[in-house]
Amino acid sequence: MSHACMCSSPNEEELYPLVDQVIEKYRGNPKELITVLHRIQKLFDYLPRQALEKVSDGLGMSLNEIHGVASFYSFFSMVPKGRHSIKVCLGTACYVKGGQKIVEHLEKKLAVHVGGTTQDRRFSLDEVRCIGACGLAPAVLVNDDVYAKVEPDKVEEILSKYE
Ligand code: FES
Repeated sequence: MSHACMCSSPNEEELYPLVDQVIEKYRGNPKELITVLHRIQKLFDYLPRQALEKVSDGLGMSLNEIHGVASFYSFFSMVPKGRHSIKVCLGTACYVKGGQKIVEHLEKKLAVHVGGTTQDRRFSLDEVRCIGACGLAPAVLVNDDVYAKVEPDKVEEILSKYE
């Protein structure tokens, strides 16, 4: 379960008329759920609960059904993504070299669990399985930058490069 802030920003509020337009186009047509979710994720970069409630009303489906479909596909996200994506490798080589300690350190430092986003939306934190750089274990990816042989006390310096 994510501890990310689920508050709507003012910018998000401005997007709801566009959500209404999308839903109007597919009203009463649950077969178009995936199309509708794609459009909404494109607007917000994730699927806000408020938008899913509108989808539920518009397409005549329960929120549970919609959640079931959305969580089946990895390209849908129920939490807002951060401006920067941190991925800690927990493949075998990285795990053995202390990847889990890096995860725990980041969770504490950023006050967020794996799969979540910091309240200021600066960082999203995820685990990955082998990024093909096992010689650099433990490896951490921030956006497209690979950090090698990361120690917990290097984490702060790495994060400071991303605003
Ligand atoms: S296990 Fe981490 S890069 Fe391969």
